[in-house]
Amino acid sequence: MTADFIGIDFGTSNCAVAAWVNNEPTLIAVDENSDNPFKIRSAIYLAHNQTGSVSSNAKANEQTLNDMLSSGEILFGEQGFNAFLLTPDEGRYVNSPKNFLGAKIPKRLLDNFETLVVRFLSYLKQCAEKQLNLTINKAVIARPVNYHSTMGELGNQQAEALMLRAATKAGFSQVEFIHEPLAAAYHFEQKIKQPTKSMIVDLGGGTSDVTFCLLSEDKANNLDRDADIYATKGIRQGGIVSDKDLASGIVSPLFGRGGRTKDGRAIPNMLYFGAYAIDNMPEMSDFYAPARAKAIKDYIAASTDPVPLTRLQSVQQGRLTHQMMHAIELAKIDLSDKPQAELSLTFIEQALEVNIQRDQVLLTMNNWLEKMFIMIDETIEEAQENPEIIYLTGGMGLSPLVQQALATRYPEVKITVADAFSSVVLGALLKAKRLYA
Ligand SMILES: Nc1ncnc2c1ncn2[C@@H]1O[C@H](COP(=O)(O)OP(=O)(O)OP(=O)(O)O)[C@@H](O)[C@H]1O
Ligand SMILES: [Mg+2]
Repeated sequence: MTADFIGIDFGTSNCAVAAWVNNEPTLIAVDENSDNPFKIRSAIYLAHNQTGSVSSNAKANEQTLNDMLSSGEILFGEQGFNAFLLTPDEGRYVNSPKNFLGAKIPKRLLDNFETLVVRFLSYLKQCAEKQLNLTINKAVIARPVNYHSTMGELGNQQAEALMLRAATKAGFSQVEFIHEPLAAAYHFEQKIKQPTKSMIVDLGGGTSDVTFCLLSEDKANNLDRDADIYATKGIRQGGIVSDKDLASGIVSPLFGRGGRTKDGRAIPNMLYFGAYAIDNMPEMSDFYAPARAKAIKDYIAASTDPVPLTRLQSVQQGRLTHQMMHAIELAKIDLSDKPQAELSLTFIEQALEVNIQRDQVLLTMNNWLEKMFIMIDETIEEAQENPEIIYLTGGMGLSPLVQQALATRYPEVKITVADAFSSVVLGALLKAKRLYA
C-alpha cells in the first residue's frame, strides 16, 4: 500500500522527495537529467515569452519576474541550469530560492519568490504523484534551524509562513515542518540498537545545522521527542560560503586583485565585491551595475597589468558569475576524491585553467569550519553532555577536509558519514508517517 504523504527536503542546493511505498521508505525520482535522479538542483529558469519583435535583451528588462511566472515556460533543476548557460539572455535564472525566503525585501518581491516556491513544490508533488500513481496532499517539509536572513527569528517566521502558504497553494492540505538536523536524526535512529547520545551535523549548501539528541530504538516511533533533544543550533553558512571564499582566495588574484596602478595605487577590493555572490541578489546586482562596469574599465586603463582585470570585465559583461561559481564548486567536489584538481575557466578566457591543491581549499574553508566548531561546542555546553557519536550528513560532509577537521577537533568521538543527500528527506518522511499514517 502507498500512503498519501511525502517528506520534502527543500534545500539550498538540492531538493529531494520521499514517500512510503509497500511499507518501505522510497526516494522519488525528481530529475532525470541529474547524475543522481533522486535529488534536483534548486534552480529555476523562466523563459521569456517569445512574442513581438523586440530583442531578447530588451525583453529581459521589460518583463518582470511576475509576468514570466504567470506566462513563460519554467524549467527546473539541471534542465533549467543548462538552459540558462546556453541562453542566459532568453530568460531569468533563480538559483537557491531558499536563500531569499527570510530576506528583508519588499512584499512585491517576496510574493514573486512565493510564486516560485509554489511552482517548485508543485513540480515536486507531481513527480511523486506520477511515480506513485496517487494524489498526494500531506507533507512534512524540512527547514533549516535558521533561514538566511538579517532579521533573526522574524526572518525564520517569514520564511516558514511563506513555505506554508506556498505548499497550500501547491495543493497540500496538511503541512508540518521539521528542523533539518532532527529529520536526519530520525533517519539515523532507524539503525540504532542501544540508546546513544548523538550529534547530528548537517552541512548543506546554505546552512550548517546540528542537533544533539538521545537516539534509541524504543522511542523511534514516537511523535513527541522534545525530551530527547538536548540542543539544536544552526548557522547561515555552508558550501556556498566556502565556494565564495575559495573564489576570493584563488580566483581573485587571476582577476588582478593585489595589483597596482601605474601611479602606485592598489587595485581596490571593492572592484570584486559581489562578483561571487550567487546567494545575495543585491550584491550581485551591484557587481553588474553600470558604475562597476565603468570602475573596472577605468582600472584596466590605469593598471600596470591590465590582462587580469579584463578577465573580471569578461565575467561582468558576460554575466558569468553563476557559471564561474559552478566551475569552482565542481573543482571543490573533485578535490574530495583527489589531492589536486583543474579549475577550468575557459569560458572566461581561452586556456584559463588553474591547478588547485586540496590544502589550498582548507585555507579558504577555515573561516566557516571555525564557526561550525563554535556552534558544536556551544551545543555540547548547552546540553551538558558529551556526544558518543557524530553523524555527518549533507553534501559538505563528503569533503575529507571537513571529516578530518572534525576528527582532529573531537578525537574521542566516533564519526560516521552517511546518506549525504537523503538523510533529511527520509527523516521528514518518518515524521510524516508518525503524523499522518
Ligand atoms: N563530494 C563533495 N565534496 C564536497 N562538497 C560537496 C560534495 N558534494 C556536494 N558538495 C557540496 O555540498 C553542498 C550541497 O549539499 P546539500 O545538497 O546537502 O545542500 P542542501 O541540502 O541543498 O542545502 P541546505 O541544507 O543548506 O539548504 C554544496 O555546497 C556542494 O558543493
Ligand atoms: Mg540540506
